[in-house]
Amino acid sequence: MTDTGNTNSTSQAMMRMVAGIAVLVVLTALLFFLAPVSFYPWAKAIHILAVISWMAGMLYLPRLFVYHAEAEKGSVQSETFKVMERRLLRGIINPAMILTWVFGLWLAWKIFAFQGGWLHAKIGLVVILSGVHGYLAAAVRKFAEDRNERSARHWRIVNEIPTLLMIAIVILVVVKPF
Ligand code: HEM
Repeated sequence: MTDTGNTNSTSQAMMRMVAGIAVLVVLTALLFFLAPVSFYPWAKAIHILAVISWMAGMLYLPRLFVYHAEAEKGSVQSETFKVMERRLLRGIINPAMILTWVFGLWLAWKIFAFQGGWLHAKIGLVVILSGVHGYLAAAVRKFAEDRNERSARHWRIVNEIPTLLMIAIVILVVVKPF
């Protein structure tokens, strides 16, 4: 692609991102100011569906990296993994994370007034999980540019982090031990 083509597609991607963020901000504002407390079971149902989708992607993506790290750069397999990783990240993991946060924060604010040790601990762990999300998103970019230097073993270990965080988060919110 020419330089002009690159600049055009970059600015189109920026425009799409800005439009997406604007829609998200408007919807979040409407949810926070208009949804009554009786919306609680619906908000929780959407939150749980978003959590399931986010976690499915966060557990699958590093597993793809394990196989991708072993595939020869430039091979058909490697190019196929790039497409799978990009679609998984953009189509499922990113939107699911946003919905999880929006509805989780609504529940925390409207139902629990941000009170409770379990809630503070849970939000802390979800912040760490979001950091892992950022790390995986950066890895998708590196793999796409054939710049991954990490071994399959590294990605196998990284694969365990979202699992451990998920177990702790679900225990905190269901058992509410403190
Ligand atoms: C993004 C930040 C998040 C916030 C602020 C948040 C907050 C909340 C709140 C306040 C509830 C309602 C609890 C109740 O009704 O007793 C809830 C429910 C739930 N959350 Fe989250 N959450 C977040 C992310 C997550 C994540 C990442 C997971 C799992 C990995 C998760 C799993 C769940 C589950 C399973 C429930 C249902 C619990 C039940 O009904 O007993 N949440 N969340």
